[in-house]
Amino acid sequence: MFRFSRRAAAAVSIVAISAAAAGGVGAATRSSDEAALAPARQPADRAIEKRVNKLLKKMTLEEKLNQLTLLSDGQMKENPAEARKPVGAVFSEVDPAKIRAYQQDAVENSRLGIPILFAYDTIHGFRTIFPIPLGAASSFDPAVATDDHFFGARESAAVGLKQIYSPMVDVSHEPRWGRISEAGGEDPYLNSVFAAARVKAAQGGDYSARDKVVTSVKHYAAYGQPEGGRDYGTTDMSEQRLRNLYLPPFKAAIDAGSDTVMCSFNAINGVPGCAHRRLETDVLKREWGFDGFVESDYTAVAELRSCPPRIPDEGSCGHGVAGDGPEAAARALRAGTDSEMVSTFFRDYGEELVAEGRVSMRRIDDAVRRILRVKFRAGLFENPYSQFTPEQAKAEMLKPDAVAAARKAAGRSMVLLKNDGAPATLPLDPGKKTAVIGPLGNSERDMVGPWWGRGDDNSPADIVTPFEGIAAQSAGATFTEGCKVSRTEPPHDDAEGCGAEANFADAVAAAEAADQVVLALGESREMSGEAAVRSVLDLPGRQEELIAAIKATGKPFVVVLFNGRPLALENIVDTAPAILEAWFPGVQAGNAVADVVFGQVNPGGKLPASFPRRVGQVPIYYNHEPTGRPCDVNSKYNSRYRDLPYCGPLYEFGFGLSYTTFEVTNLALSSQSVARSGRVTASVDVANTGSRAGDEVVQLYINDPVAKISQPVRRLRGFQRVTLAPGEKRTLTFTLDRSDWGFYDNKGRFVVEPGRIDVYAGNSSRASLRQSFRVRR
Ligand code: NOJ
Repeated sequence: MFRFSRRAAAAVSIVAISAAAAGGVGAATRSSDEAALAPARQPADRAIEKRVNKLLKKMTLEEKLNQLTLLSDGQMKENPAEARKPVGAVFSEVDPAKIRAYQQDAVENSRLGIPILFAYDTIHGFRTIFPIPLGAASSFDPAVATDDHFFGARESAAVGLKQIYSPMVDVSHEPRWGRISEAGGEDPYLNSVFAAARVKAAQGGDYSARDKVVTSVKHYAAYGQPEGGRDYGTTDMSEQRLRNLYLPPFKAAIDAGSDTVMCSFNAINGVPGCAHRRLETDVLKREWGFDGFVESDYTAVAELRSCPPRIPDEGSCGHGVAGDGPEAAARALRAGTDSEMVSTFFRDYGEELVAEGRVSMRRIDDAVRRILRVKFRAGLFENPYSQFTPEQAKAEMLKPDAVAAARKAAGRSMVLLKNDGAPATLPLDPGKKTAVIGPLGNSERDMVGPWWGRGDDNSPADIVTPFEGIAAQSAGATFTEGCKVSRTEPPHDDAEGCGAEANFADAVAAAEAADQVVLALGESREMSGEAAVRSVLDLPGRQEELIAAIKATGKPFVVVLFNGRPLALENIVDTAPAILEAWFPGVQAGNAVADVVFGQVNPGGKLPASFPRRVGQVPIYYNHEPTGRPCDVNSKYNSRYRDLPYCGPLYEFGFGLSYTTFEVTNLALSSQSVARSGRVTASVDVANTGSRAGDEVVQLYINDPVAKISQPVRRLRGFQRVTLAPGEKRTLTFTLDRSDWGFYDNKGRFVVEPGRIDVYAGNSSRASLRQSFRVRR
């Protein structure tokens, strides 16, 4: 219980802050699949603190500085002797035999036998790859996040890993930014719910369990909002935005027990994440009571220097907040970064910094203590190796339960954006002859997205392509590529592929020879993820022309999109009769696509980020503040684009259709007036008014119309995904409290003001049912 009580003690002065994040997340998990989640906290363990202190006393400064060092698989290969120093941690080594050998060297051949912490980016699966996190968020089902981290942890631990650099919880209003694919989109609440579910699933109640790992929530902080969407770019934002939009998912992950955190590359108001004392020490460690450790991102400590660095062979540089390596190390350590990834300035200059009094021995000890604490909690001193031999570990991959969960998750993550026609175009009849056409139609590699883990390890056959999945359910299906999307790294051709080589004649012939067409379009996996920023959000290359060519055949067709970001679909929305957003669905992509396209699974996902009509509207997001001149396309002096005849996005946050229809009615509140720290229950009815069973996500938003600082026009504060039979009706309830209607001000205080609160319910962020209550003085 000590972690509980430590945090409770730390929270006394910031009761409102704790209530905000914890209450917010609690409210949602109450309404989701909580039973599947393990208890969040590590058990109280005074004994661990004793062991940490005892070990620390025996360590030389050199040994301590090695513990602060985190090396890549490549660095270890160059110098395997690092293992017996031993370094604190190693990342990206996934060969179980090598992990075992390094660990053996550390445990048996170093003076104190301190085990190494092996880490990996298990973001949405290790070998059994689930949908990308943006896709998983579309499910509005925390059980999807639970599954991807439960199985991801199990497979990671089997090869000897004990830490994962996940969950990635960077709220983002930037679809140009390729890393929007890695987290849960534009809403802090949705990201918080998913973050907590992932931490609990990967760590369990006690991450010393042999199939569990410690999580590292990243990238701390506000990495999702770089200027212009350019990766690693600077971020300048108010305290209230930082606290209300970007920090809540981190707090939720810490409250769920995440014992490590990764600081971010970007600067926030001029101070890089890994040198940000206020964020790392004041907020994370003091205010939130975090007693685990913070590792830097890749060379982020070296990047604190200006370019070119004073000592040229020191490598990466950039932010210009430190003149040289020693200064960079001192800034990062003093800020609260405990472990340094890839660059080794802590180790190289630590002794001199301590001798000169620029970094205190107490701070070094604090960092080492945090790292050892996590290693003891992880049970590494008792069980430094995987429970499986390297041979046995192979058998732990892609087990049937994991593969079945990945297929289910992919189906639940798909969002039906359009389904015109009478009868509606989707679902298709599997008994008819189906032509799968398009550059993504038979691609294995793209299906696993930009963090594919070991998803395509020597065995692309593990990945089911859209064509393979469709052919398995529709006899005689054909595949024609039509054109190729670009897979090159920058600098690349402007057309992003699907260019001059495009063979639309073959595609047209294939469509003509079939009864119906599934057009598999979108982005290659290289187009999203880290350092994959796009300045155009349309379908890359000539894919829009391919749609037009297929439409001209007169055959019924649907567009299935595979992509890692919101796209601007203005040019295709009128051409395509049906559009299904499949994201990058993972190893079971094809089966899940076929399940949805042929109606075995009725799509119920909702967008976790707004889809603009055109890139020029970006950033465009539902939770924006109001303005004195709201958009009005019929007059001039207001907040609009001169060249756009509409105000909002093409598809809003929370939007998604189904093969059936739903009605959300009867929003009612338990009370019209509530004390500041009271509770209000909202109830709302949802009914399936169509003729098929299906899923609806009922969403609850609030707005504080009069506050001392402008409040977002809507804020999501609850959601529930329910499955209803035709004609079935259910009443859902949501509980709201001060953590929902309060907000952070620009001094970083959580405030709860008296006054009216509007509550909206419906099935997207345009929810129209409204009721109000008053918060009393
Ligand atoms: C850099 C990325 O920003 C981070 O997300 C990742 O965990 C590290 N590289 C390690 O791979």
